[in-house]
Amino acid sequence: MVATQVKHEVKDLSLAPIGKQRIEWAGREMPVLKQIRDRFAAEKPLAGIRLVACCHVTTETANLAIALKAAGADAVLIASNPLSTQDDVAACLVADYDIPVFAIKGEDAQTYIRHVNIALDHKPNIIIDDGCDVIATLVQERQHQLPDLIGSTEETTTGIVRLRAMFRDGVLSFPAMNVNDADTKHFFDNRYGTGQSTLDGIIRATNVLLAGKTVVVVGYGWCGKGTALRARGLGANVIVTEIDPTKAIEAVMDGFRVMPMAEAAPQGDLFITVTGNKHVIRSEHFDVMKDGAMVCNSGHFDIEIDLKALGEKSTEIKQVRNFTQEYRLKNGKSVVVLGEGRLINLAAAEGHPSAVMDMSFANQALAAEYLVKNQGKLEPGIHSIPVEVDKEIARLKLQAMGIFIDSLTPDQIEYINSWTSGT
Ligand code: ADE
Repeated sequence: MVATQVKHEVKDLSLAPIGKQRIEWAGREMPVLKQIRDRFAAEKPLAGIRLVACCHVTTETANLAIALKAAGADAVLIASNPLSTQDDVAACLVADYDIPVFAIKGEDAQTYIRHVNIALDHKPNIIIDDGCDVIATLVQERQHQLPDLIGSTEETTTGIVRLRAMFRDGVLSFPAMNVNDADTKHFFDNRYGTGQSTLDGIIRATNVLLAGKTVVVVGYGWCGKGTALRARGLGANVIVTEIDPTKAIEAVMDGFRVMPMAEAAPQGDLFITVTGNKHVIRSEHFDVMKDGAMVCNSGHFDIEIDLKALGEKSTEIKQVRNFTQEYRLKNGKSVVVLGEGRLINLAAAEGHPSAVMDMSFANQALAAEYLVKNQGKLEPGIHSIPVEVDKEIARLKLQAMGIFIDSLTPDQIEYINSWTSGT
């Protein structure tokens, strides 16, 4: 029996030793965050700050939470998705690091919302959000707490889309740091992180061979690009669907077939949604799919596949493997749904690898510090990560990888800053 005074709701504190081993393993691939943590431990830039982090509770997030605590923050951690929590990690953060965690893998929607409210009861000065659920709850239901808030940071594209809508509606009354759009975040996390971990989740859930399969990637943003690239790398024949003409051209020139979903639906063996929008696979698409077609999602919310419509046309739903359900349709065919339509990379695998989360979470840690350092000076609205912070993270990452690059000569600096010399 593990004793702790720290408030928490985790699955089982006795899982802590396994969590500790795994957190330390991830930490080996997170040298940039480690440097920040060491500086934070010396300088305590978040001393006395009440902080809420709503993130996928993974080994990588644990390393972030430990860095925030080292910085002096009074931090509470909750899950940003009901299926993404690693229960051993949650246990370890409570038992070994005295960090209050409210997250259980498979928690129902009511529990998820209750955890968001427990986090808000902490009266945060800083909120690190992934998907904007904490901020949306604060703004809609707890406006009286807004004066406590110095600012927030947002991890993911979906959250940024929601923050932009809040700004348009005139309800964003504090500074929100856009971590997602930092170069050292989306170029690597969204592309290579989602690419690898999505295929990892699909393979862990199904163990299917991807070589020779037709894989339909729905959406060609950074996550779609990474997913299509990695599916092709495994030998799949990849189709891309898009609604944005520029991204569609990009997919064509990257060598993928591009077509509307109505045409792709009867061809695909496996469908992966990464659009951020709702019902991109819906009733009329299920009707024409091949028998045994598999569908899954790697976008933030479980709204991309219309599972209600699929349920309505099914006579039976059978659990055939972990995270794998077969829907038997009235038309005699079946459709296989992976991870209940939730982020397959976090539901069935472990999310993005640590090496990319190193940069994402370096951005998060530095964004929290930036908000506190600039308290009262930043306008309400969405703020980019300062370019010098983004470049410094890239520089530290390269250094940790043992890779060196050139720098401009004085002559080149002069040339690049002048307009007088041409042809
Ligand atoms: N989002 C995607 N992958 C993640 C990970 N490994 N940890 C935290 N958040 C994530």
